[in-house]
Amino acid sequence: MNKEYEAVISSETAKINAFLGSCAQLESSGGSPWETVLEAEKYALSAGGKRIRPLLAVEFYKLFSGADSAPDFVYEAAVTLEMTHTFSLIHDDMPEMDDDDLRRGKPATHVKFGTATGLLAGDGLAILPYEILADMALGGRLDPLTAVKLTKLLSANAGNCGMIAGQMLDLWSEERADAVNGEFLREMSGLKTGCLLTASCLFGAVLAGADDERCRSAEIYAKKVGLAFQIVDDVLDVTSSPEELGKPTGSDSDREKPTFYDILGEEGALREAERLSAEAASELEKYPGSGLLREFALSLAKRKK
Ligand code: IPE
Ligand code: IPE
Ligand code: MG
Ligand code: MG
Ligand code: MG
Repeated sequence: MNKEYEAVISSETAKINAFLGSCAQLESSGGSPWETVLEAEKYALSAGGKRIRPLLAVEFYKLFSGADSAPDFVYEAAVTLEMTHTFSLIHDDMPEMDDDDLRRGKPATHVKFGTATGLLAGDGLAILPYEILADMALGGRLDPLTAVKLTKLLSANAGNCGMIAGQMLDLWSEERADAVNGEFLREMSGLKTGCLLTASCLFGAVLAGADDERCRSAEIYAKKVGLAFQIVDDVLDVTSSPEELGKPTGSDSDREKPTFYDILGEEGALREAERLSAEAASELEKYPGSGLLREFALSLAKRKK
């Protein structure tokens, strides 16, 4: 990726981290025993994540609004995507799911705080986004109809027919490896990973007031990037190391979970991820100023962590 885009991504990531770190609804008043859950939520959210989802929201906002930088309300809304993603990771790592004890280079939240508090921290981060979006509307920082649109996007994509459905299929696949094929993995990955990335790109589009055609392009881009992203995640689970990834490797094979790596092999899987990313990038060619998002899609297929 060219240096100029890299610099933009790192400054936007820093800004996203600052918004996450100063979230008013996560501040503890100190002393009360229930506030341990806030500590667990802040621990799970703290440094180490790539922040891809809020980054996509911010960059799609910039693309479709034509602005060079995004106003504060865009970041405030965008961090709700990272909260939703982090809730999914906390639960995904728990012993009843993937049973992984390392996340973002640190002990997983349930390891650090115990499974019950980890469970509640995930619950807290699952719900907080809707409080934030409501607070934004009530505080006049977001018009109420836009807040409702974002609420619908996030709940529908993270919820029963989206990410939760994908995680259910993922659990089912552990028991029914014999029934898993490429079509199943594409459906499962589209749901468990693609849906939240779709919400992320559409957050930016909706915040920018984009028309239907632009929203459709954001959605096409997101679905292709989402699939490529999970394909690479499956490959890295075999080919990388915990030091590099910040999470355990071999997690899928330990659970006999069939993945794109098993079905396509390393080379075939990476080729497929590159093909999908190139298609995602070409969907944005018609929009001037889309260079960063196009290169970003390509870089995700080549990522090492
Ligand atoms: C990991 O997501 C889980 C998947 C959906 C594959 P990321 O690779 O975006 O994890 P972080 O946020 O950078 O830790
Ligand atoms: C996770 O998929 C998808 C989620 C919705 C959390 P994985 O289980 O492959 O993610 P990692 O590898 O643990 O990050
Ligand atoms: Mg999982
Ligand atoms: Mg996992
Ligand atoms: Mg994985």
